[in-house]
Amino acid sequence: MNELSRMPLVESLFAAAEGRFSFHMPANRQGKSFPPWLRDKLWTLDNTEIELTGDINHPEGAVLAAMDLAAKTFGAGHTRFVTTGTTTSLLTALATACPRGSKLILPRRVHQTIMHGAALLELEPVWEEPDTGERIEQALVREITQHPEAEAVFITTPVYDGTTIPLDKIIQCARDQGTLVIVDEAHGSHFAVAPDLLPPTALSQGADLVAMSAHKTLPALTPGSYLHIGNDAITSGRVSAERLGQMLKVFQTTSPSFVIAASLDYARSWLEIEGRRAVESLLGLISELNKDLPLTLKRLHQPSSDPLRLTYDYSGTGRTRAEVRQIFAEGKVDPEVIDLSQIILIPALDTTGEEMKALAEVLHALDTRGRSFVTDAAGKANVGGLYSDAEIKSGKNITTDGRGSSNNQDIGWVHSLLDRSAPAAVPVGEALFGDICKREVPLREAVGRAAAEAIVPYPPGVALVWPGETITLERIEAIEQLLAADITVYGVHKPDMPSVNVIE
Ligand SMILES: Cc1ncc(COP(=O)(O)O)c(C=O)c1O
Repeated sequence: MNELSRMPLVESLFAAAEGRFSFHMPANRQGKSFPPWLRDKLWTLDNTEIELTGDINHPEGAVLAAMDLAAKTFGAGHTRFVTTGTTTSLLTALATACPRGSKLILPRRVHQTIMHGAALLELEPVWEEPDTGERIEQALVREITQHPEAEAVFITTPVYDGTTIPLDKIIQCARDQGTLVIVDEAHGSHFAVAPDLLPPTALSQGADLVAMSAHKTLPALTPGSYLHIGNDAITSGRVSAERLGQMLKVFQTTSPSFVIAASLDYARSWLEIEGRRAVESLLGLISELNKDLPLTLKRLHQPSSDPLRLTYDYSGTGRTRAEVRQIFAEGKVDPEVIDLSQIILIPALDTTGEEMKALAEVLHALDTRGRSFVTDAAGKANVGGLYSDAEIKSGKNITTDGRGSSNNQDIGWVHSLLDRSAPAAVPVGEALFGDICKREVPLREAVGRAAAEAIVPYPPGVALVWPGETITLERIEAIEQLLAADITVYGVHKPDMPSVNVIE
């Protein structure tokens, strides 16, 4: 075949969809979640702003009616469809809430778009850093109280692993101080459908601006997003729908996709009609799955977490990350994330029994009991049969470190660094957009220099150093340890001879 007639991306995407079990976003299960009447005709909906279709950026008629129904389903005062992702929704929310140059309170663990928004709007970040033993919500309340001049506070809940942050005290305190509450609920679009079975939504707790990535947990197309203003925020005038519309025009394309917007309309209607039944059925499947987990695999779940997010600690299995990835690949099960100790899976709401069975088989294959298993990536024999039968039965001595640990490096301290800010040398806006000279230097030579780009370990996709922050020795050691553990670190070039870009 002529090289130029090939379509490498099309070919690889078809291969990725063929006979696989999807436990990652998008939650439309490669289109299987759409009924044939919609799936087979989606492409006929790809249209532009003509009399018959309306305009997503100027909602009227059918477009407005669909958005108003979404506001009802999710319990918002005003809703917009965003077809360029929650990335756009968050930028719009920031620009709506925060005048240029104002202060924004936020934890370190935020999606990178927040820093991009802060840079564009020249916002001054007030970092929320929990003291030892302090919970995020307590630290946020402390910062809101200490910074009444801050325009807004930003919170992500639920986070990737399904953990949620209670918002009641934060919102109460923010109201008292006149601070707006912006919530990144990218992973929680499904919460509204079953309030008694799932955690409370940010809107039901009184958040002012909320962004949801529909494609992460609903049958919608990537990157469909709902951007909401809370009921009280609208009626009290704290947030203006008109300003939000203006700001959305700044960040959203002038050709928003009708196909994606239609999938947002569909997902909302599906949620109303089928959502609750689907949540109940998925909870049943998850409960069956977890009843029969190998003892060496530990489900990480707090009572307030999203019960539909599956997060497992596999360090007790004795497997390396490479082995775990291999076992998933062999079972044709695609997880969302496998990091050094955790597996995160996102089952779609309409996951079938057959898909769950495939997952159960893979989880059981992780169990090393009585087996002498394959060699790890470095070619070292990984000794199976780590535990005696008595230990397995009692669960005693099954540790998450030491003998049963699958990854020799303890990177807990690296993760704790992600919650602490590095000293800022140059404002992030200046580092990103200023007329700066940057130079690539070997990692060890970057100590004390300002980063010219974000340094982001993936997973978990949270910045260790933001542009303009000082690259300290501690952070360099953390990067080295992450690279040694085979974690990708964006912003670090040539991982075999690591180098980073610094500001001259
Ligand atoms: C917590 C969180 N917020 C925001 C986003 C951005 O969402 P989108 O991909 O819809 O632009 C993501 C994407 O992964 C995310 O995980």
